[in-house]
Amino acid sequence: MNDKIFKDFPQIKSDYIYFDTAATSLKPQSVIDAVNMYNQELSANIHRGMYDNSVRTTSLYEEAREIVAKFINAGVDEVVFTRGTTSSLNLVAFSYGLNHLDENSEIIISEQEHHSQFLPWQEVAKKTSAKLKFIELDKSGKITVEAFKKVLNKNTKVVAINYVSNVLGYINPIKEITRLAHEIGAIVVLDAAQAIQHITIDVLDLDVDFLAFSGHKMLGPTGVGILYGKELYLENLEPFEFGGDMNEDVEKTLSTWKSYPQKFEAGTMPIAGVLGLAEAVKYLENLGLKNIENYTKKLYDYFFKELSKIKGIKIYNPNSDTGIITFNLDNVPAHDAISYYAEKNIALRSGQHCAKLIHDYLGIHSSLRVSVYFYNRIEEVNKFLEVTKEAIDYFQKIGF
Ligand SMILES: Cc1ncc(COP(=O)(O)O)c(C=O)c1O
Repeated sequence: MNDKIFKDFPQIKSDYIYFDTAATSLKPQSVIDAVNMYNQELSANIHRGMYDNSVRTTSLYEEAREIVAKFINAGVDEVVFTRGTTSSLNLVAFSYGLNHLDENSEIIISEQEHHSQFLPWQEVAKKTSAKLKFIELDKSGKITVEAFKKVLNKNTKVVAINYVSNVLGYINPIKEITRLAHEIGAIVVLDAAQAIQHITIDVLDLDVDFLAFSGHKMLGPTGVGILYGKELYLENLEPFEFGGDMNEDVEKTLSTWKSYPQKFEAGTMPIAGVLGLAEAVKYLENLGLKNIENYTKKLYDYFFKELSKIKGIKIYNPNSDTGIITFNLDNVPAHDAISYYAEKNIALRSGQHCAKLIHDYLGIHSSLRVSVYFYNRIEEVNKFLEVTKEAIDYFQKIGF
């Protein structure tokens, strides 16, 4: 990456190291400018006004939909704006799941899932008496096609799975899983929150039925996300939220809804976020996901190799695909360890990362997680390695 790129991110400071992209990415100036432009120059609602600012806002909002659709190779109407991955997955679970599942249905899920994928389906299973079936993870915590085949059967109605785990960073074999799921008529609901910023996603090629991601993990603003759904499903799906702008006709006895995607966009949408997200997509496209992947991989390889050499550390996900390293300092609870890094102005994550089941699987209470991206540098990794050695010495000295 050339130095110009680092200047695009006003959050980057020489005495601050940001290794928490898996929680939320940094935002480039072009995204910030788009959000500010909306608030400063437009500040109008969409689809409702005849005045210039409203018409212009509507056209920028709908252009953003086209930009996102092109980015994932979807039809424009197959892109629904939501408030984030969590909202997108809840929409599918409660609109599709509640109406299509019963006590004879099975939902395939995994211990890798983020709570935003797991909890909605657990709730739907409770309400419909459907069964949750867990794919058995292999020794390293990976999902294999063979293990998936073992839980797939004619009762499977939904496969709710992640593309990339936010704890392990491994890319799951989604294309093959989807092909097998479709053979028995099940739908695939893919959580792509940790994939969209790293790998090219082509929904036609993957053939998943629903796909969810968040703007804020891919250089965009918080508060905006995407639900992609195949037309066939969106057309027949009931709205999840009811209210302003999603209705066609309202009568005292019965009301009707607009077509998709509008019927899923009730109330005032996160307009500034949508415009910012469009800029984020442009930024990623200009830089090229392949270049991002190559750079991140090189930095990660160096990081992993050097961190593995340090004694007094346990790493849980060797050979991660997307720049995530999850680890612990021996005998030091993650919440204690993180305070040492925080004092040195290093941002990383500690805890269960909204994925308790994978921590249970690994047999640990919590962990530390660093995640690198294209705006991180080798000097930052070196500083981290140095601080980690100091931290190990420090905790040993005080009796951990
Ligand atoms: C894999 C995964 N799924 C879902 C989510 C939830 O995303 P959001 O909080 O933006 O709705 C996250 C966020 O950490 C994630 O990493």
